[in-house]
Amino acid sequence: MKKDTVCVHGNNKNAFDERTGAVSVPIYQSATFKHPALNQSTGFDYSRMQNPTRLALEQTVAELEGGYEAFAYSTGMSAIACLAELFSPNDRIIASEDLYGGVIRLFNCVSEKNGLHTDYVDTSDLDAVAKKITPDTKAIFIETPTNPMMEITDIAATAALAKAHGLLLIVDNTFLSPYFQQPLNFGADVVVHSGTKFLCGHNDTLSGLIVVKDVALGERLRFLYKTIGSCLSPFDSWLMLRGIKTLALRMEKQQQSAYKIVKFLQSSPKVKKILYAGIPGSKGYDIMKKQTTGFGSMISFEVDSAATAERVLKKVRLIAFAESLGGTESLITYPTVQTHADVPLDEREKRGINDRLLRLSVGIENAADLIADLKQAIGK
Ligand SMILES: Cc1ncc(COP(=O)(O)O)c(C=O)c1O
Repeated sequence: MKKDTVCVHGNNKNAFDERTGAVSVPIYQSATFKHPALNQSTGFDYSRMQNPTRLALEQTVAELEGGYEAFAYSTGMSAIACLAELFSPNDRIIASEDLYGGVIRLFNCVSEKNGLHTDYVDTSDLDAVAKKITPDTKAIFIETPTNPMMEITDIAATAALAKAHGLLLIVDNTFLSPYFQQPLNFGADVVVHSGTKFLCGHNDTLSGLIVVKDVALGERLRFLYKTIGSCLSPFDSWLMLRGIKTLALRMEKQQQSAYKIVKFLQSSPKVKKILYAGIPGSKGYDIMKKQTTGFGSMISFEVDSAATAERVLKKVRLIAFAESLGGTESLITYPTVQTHADVPLDEREKRGINDRLLRLSVGIENAADLIADLKQAIGK
């Protein structure tokens, strides 16, 4: 089945309710499930371990990503925190130096305390990644495109390097969703999502997803999943399923509007730099063409001064000045004080996350209205 069909119908195993013929997966709001007899199970025992509504979501996302098994978590952060439990004290992971700030906080302040060390590197530079590999390295963790600098990493080349050294390749696929990018098909071992973003798509539900293609790795994660217990609730699972039904439509519309907005930003004298993976000739463009079917709708841009950035945040009317991304409503974020506030200032500056940088998540509103809003907010 094509992806837009999978978005609506899942993997066809979603028809649990043969009895009533319900077209929408029911919300199984049950903490526990009755056993038919000793040593017998319906396949559902206790909702921390399995829940039918959540299973429908997990099967849908696994199918979309081309994976074997998926796990739905209460947030993207709880999914990544669970992944960190795959490792032991003194293990090392290599990570993209430009990552969502919350993940950097997790690695530096929680995983480090537990003995898991992170070596940050520009993962778009494969030689630099190779140089970071030590006998203790166990995994490479990348975002592509990264948040917020839109750096692109070659998934297939990084997967080959990881394989050659027996490392896991973990890809945070939040920015493009499986609709535009399926890292497992390029050799990644694990895909992780903030499901809060494009998968949910409505700025109303928090969730996280992990997808794997290896049965044994799935078993290790299943153990951690049931033990840690940061699972997604049945109702939020249903909201996610409902959101995913329109994933294909939203991704296409948001991308179309992003192209138009990039054009407008290119014409604005106050905009000094635009970071969007879909600009021909831009760094990473050729790799994107190879490994994705679209460029998405996340745009970072630098304005001429901190005063202009502040003005934009104050003056936007339709676009909301708010954290998060990927939903129906367009949002503008100020990474230096929001998503990346916990990254030390000199690190932020070095990576270009300065007080002139804004990050725009294009929603599904009419592009002309969004451009008019940006125009009046940026000023002449
Ligand atoms: C790329 C990326 N990964 C992970 C996360 C964390 O997800 P959540 O906010 O759902 O915990 C975020 C949140 O913004 C993100 O942008």
